[in-house]
Amino acid sequence: MQNPYVITISSEKGGVGKTTLATNLAIYLKALNEELPVTLFSFDNHFSVDRMFRIGKNPGRNDVSGLFTGNRPEELLEIGEYGVQFIPSNRRLEELPEVRKAGFDRLARTLAAGTLQGIVIIDTRPTLDTLTRNALYAADRVIIPVKDAPSLENCKNLYDFCESQGISKRALRLLPCLIDSRIRYKGPFTDAYQLLKAYAINRGYRCMEGYIAKSPKVESLNTNPEGRIYPILTHGRGTNVHLQFSHLARQVLLAAKGCERHRITEVRQHLAAQQRQREQALMQRRERLVPDCLICGGPLFEQEKDATADYYCETSDGRISGYLEETCFSDLVFRYFYRSQKEIAPSNPLRELFRESAQRSYFVMRLAAAKNGFEKSCLAFHRFDDEGLEISQKTVEIKEFESRFLHREKTKLYRLIEATVLGEDVEENCFLLIRRVDSPASTGMLLDEHRAAFQQVMTTVANKLR
Ligand SMILES: Nc1ncnc2c1ncn2[C@@H]1O[C@H](COP(=O)(O)OP(=O)(O)O)[C@@H](O)[C@H]1O
Ligand SMILES: [Mg+2]
Repeated sequence: MQNPYVITISSEKGGVGKTTLATNLAIYLKALNEELPVTLFSFDNHFSVDRMFRIGKNPGRNDVSGLFTGNRPEELLEIGEYGVQFIPSNRRLEELPEVRKAGFDRLARTLAAGTLQGIVIIDTRPTLDTLTRNALYAADRVIIPVKDAPSLENCKNLYDFCESQGISKRALRLLPCLIDSRIRYKGPFTDAYQLLKAYAINRGYRCMEGYIAKSPKVESLNTNPEGRIYPILTHGRGTNVHLQFSHLARQVLLAAKGCERHRITEVRQHLAAQQRQREQALMQRRERLVPDCLICGGPLFEQEKDATADYYCETSDGRISGYLEETCFSDLVFRYFYRSQKEIAPSNPLRELFRESAQRSYFVMRLAAAKNGFEKSCLAFHRFDDEGLEISQKTVEIKEFESRFLHREKTKLYRLIEATVLGEDVEENCFLLIRRVDSPASTGMLLDEHRAAFQQVMTTVANKLR
């Protein structure tokens, strides 16, 4: 098996036999096929897995939290008893910020990035929290132990979640557990197993073949002076439960062998496709980018230039995207919008002040109608904060800089608006959004993670200026 086949043991009810099932199934699978790597971990905080499998007494350095904090799964493994490898438990897993923030696909992504093979078994808590959802999302097979009618009713939420995530209902299987075979009923369903199975089928749920009986011997396996939990395979050989587990493990192994497309393979392929799309989008954005400063025309992508802070800008219709040199843009702002008569020297503290405050601002330039009604004869300059709230606005009459250009060469401001928002074919509401970037100019604003906020403000501003 190239990718792991993932089995999640889940039920919103406690005490139905999840942990007993997860731990013992791991041992029976290993006993059936010694070559098969079997990995086990639990999102519960009772440390049963650690108590059952740890060789020696010293806890390892890693634990299940690593699955959410960027570790590779194979780095977290501890070699355990009975040939089963396990990832140690963590008492405060749900309190970790990484777990709180995690999407449902976090665990699946971690497994997809790793090299685990064979079978992975995940024991979960009796709640449908983020951790359980992660375990369900990653699963090829979900086994839901049910011991009575209420635990069967509880399955609905699990089914609903799986359906919402595109996980086939067929991946889910109920397993009647803790069945007291001494109790007999009159009528067509003679015992609790038959009755539960009938209920399940009636509700459209599939079941594993067989069941796990309630056995006093099994119950006693986790209470002993050594504080260990003993497996059914080694300490409950004489019981029916031993035969039931052997049968169950065989079923699981057959299903795993017959599984043509693993969930983790799907996730891995999906991630690879996403990555390709991202790279393509980045390449397209890079190709579209105007390579020179839109104000002075100077080249921006020389080696050492790449690291300087500049301003990224993009028209609201996406036609033009490019950069403005730091000093070019601040010169414009000082001259036209702050009405500064004199040239501001590079050493003037005003520049530093502007540079610093610009970090939390978005600037917008657009053509606007003047008060006297002449169409598009003004340039409106807006400043917004990080959330897209307007801080200030100023309007400059276009003739003010147009006339200069008629007599002499084009002014820098004219160059900028000509390249972006001026022109016959430009939509009326088109504006230029400008944002200071600190990362290298060639990639800074082009990466998805940086663009999200920029696009958000673009939409907010577009709605405001409409
Ligand atoms: N087949 C069984 N026969 C008897 N007792 C069992 C059996 N399976 C589990 N138990 C006991 O039932 C209790 C709950 O089991 P556990 O596996 O911890 O359930 P869960 O993980 O769903 O809370 C434990 O005390 C366990 O020893
Ligand atoms: Mg448990």
